Amino acid sequence: MEEVNQGPIGVFDSGYGGISVLANLIEAMPKESFVYISDSINAPYGELESQEVLNHALNHMRILEKQSAKAVVIACNTATSAAATALRAKYSFPIIGMEPAVKPAITKSSSGKILVAATGLTLKERKFAALVKKMDLQHNIVTLPCHGLVEIIEEYGPESKEVTKKLDELLAPLQPLNVDGVVLGCTHYVLIKNQWKAALPEGTRIHDGNEGTVKQTMRMIMENTTITKAHSMGKVSLMDSSQDDERLEKSKQLLQNQLRINGIVSSDQLEIELRKNNELCKS
Ligand code: DGL
Repeated sequence: MEEVNQGPIGVFDSGYGGISVLANLIEAMPKESFVYISDSINAPYGELESQEVLNHALNHMRILEKQSAKAVVIACNTATSAAATALRAKYSFPIIGMEPAVKPAITKSSSGKILVAATGLTLKERKFAALVKKMDLQHNIVTLPCHGLVEIIEEYGPESKEVTKKLDELLAPLQPLNVDGVVLGCTHYVLIKNQWKAALPEGTRIHDGNEGTVKQTMRMIMENTTITKAHSMGKVSLMDSSQDDERLEKSKQLLQNQLRINGIVSSDQLEIELRKNNELCKS
């Protein structure tokens, strides 16, 4: 009988953003173990060239493959646009990516006008243009490349007043905002959903790709390997390319915080390991 890979699920992003996805993955599959890579020394990916993002992603994949990851979730819209196709061609295990949740947003919009907020690179990449073209949405979408927002979230934290100020600055030129839906097309923006809510007109629907990504991950794992049948919760290992203790501790707090806010699993039962790995700096 073919041996089933009981390894962890790998998850990576340029920084704290993917922790919002990691929390949702843990909630959906609490018995799985996860290894999370935050590539903070190379962030923000949204201001890099595609090839650079691909090189970083290849490095993460090498590390996750060594840890026998049974699947990898690219918890980053930018890295998905720049690297998912090449990674899938190279590796045989499931690689799940993210894309701005344009389809659900347009379906639920009454005015047919939505705003897509994402990094410069995500909005510039062929993948996004193809999505808009395929759905014939050229006249329905206002795009907002949020230059500088990821850096502020990374530096000051998701709940800082600097984030609120930056959001107001980014939205000011678009007033009056004639849309009834906003897509958060970057996982960092999902960490600041409450600030978006406060900055947008009342009643604006906010969409993100987290739920779709979690569903797709479960589907792919069930089709290709197997869901772990342990009796207890899995373990989560957090790594950061800066190797910085404070950042690792902050990542842990953010994860516990997300789990507490969502209230689906208790973060007290979860074993969270902060792990150093020098190979993370190599790309
Ligand atoms: N969190 C990432 C995304 O979903 C990338 C942010 C960045 O590094 O620019 O796009």
